[in-house]
Amino acid sequence: MELSSSVIRAKKWLDKNEVIAIPTETVYGLAASIYSKKAIDSIYSIKNRPTTNPLIVHIKSEKELYKYVQNIPVKAKLLAKTFWPGPLTLVLPRTDLIPDYITANSESVAIRVPNHPLTLELLSSLDYPLAAPSANPSNHVSSTTAQHVENYFNTILPYVLDGGDCSKGLESTIIGFDKNGEPIVFRLGALTIEQIELVIGEVQVRKNLKEAETPIAPGMFSKHYAPKTPFFVVDNIDSFLESVTTDSIVYIGHQSRISNSKIKHQLLLSETGNIEEMASNLYKKLLEADSVGCDIIVTTWFENKNLGMSINDRLKRASVK
Ligand code: TXA
Ligand code: MG
Repeated sequence: MELSSSVIRAKKWLDKNEVIAIPTETVYGLAASIYSKKAIDSIYSIKNRPTTNPLIVHIKSEKELYKYVQNIPVKAKLLAKTFWPGPLTLVLPRTDLIPDYITANSESVAIRVPNHPLTLELLSSLDYPLAAPSANPSNHVSSTTAQHVENYFNTILPYVLDGGDCSKGLESTIIGFDKNGEPIVFRLGALTIEQIELVIGEVQVRKNLKEAETPIAPGMFSKHYAPKTPFFVVDNIDSFLESVTTDSIVYIGHQSRISNSKIKHQLLLSETGNIEEMASNLYKKLLEADSVGCDIIVTTWFENKNLGMSINDRLKRASVK
């Protein structure tokens, strides 16, 4: 596997209908031409992803949107104009230019303009958009560095376009629209509900995504983004530590360390308590925590607003309870 920041080399692989990894501001993606059925099939098999789970299409600019989707609600246009390039994915009715194997036969396609200089340069050099799911095996933690991608796919991918650490570190926020053109948030992500509501007014968040502190309804949160080590997210770290018998624990602190003999390793999300930094470090620290070989990983919930709501969503999906 080659790691390099050469956009020209990335284009060469893609033009040959190969799958490579690309950086975005959110997470790394496993990318291929939307018109290469062969490469898209490999994305599914490399990730071990069910073929019923559709892919996000990445385009180079907001102008391109009008080629690939139709019947665009006013609020969707406004969101695209405001937040692209950026961590927002819109789900809209597709045109014939989107093959049905990209959307798992759905009449709607998920589409976005990613905000990463190398990937924007790459997209501008290509004659086709890129389909790209996150660069991780299904149900594992997403990659936010080229090194993470190499750890997962070293012998499988020929090339990673190395764009450094992802600045946001959480996947894009996905928004669909009802029959009246009203927005529904399908997945919380790097663009916060508060940011979205400033532009288009109140949005509905698909049920069971908003109340991150309530227990998981069975089946509502399939295992996702999960480390191999059992991962606990708790309200009170002291009472949790008292309740467990193991003394082989990795603690992921938001901002400050704690002193407890059961904790073997401590990792901090942000020394300064900056929420953006905490979000961007989350997957990196989870992967690091997973690699130290302790019995369990533990962290605490965030205040459930702004980016904290998106982080809580990922913590919930990664945790054992
Ligand atoms: O930040 C991101 O969105 C990253 C980067 C690489 O762009 N991509 C990403 O892709 O997170 P993936 O495949 O890991 O997650 C895409 C999500 C899936 O949950 C999928 O079900 C949903 O988007 N999705 C894709 N197409 C859809 C569609 N047509 N309708 C509804 N949901 C869709
Ligand atoms: Mg993913």
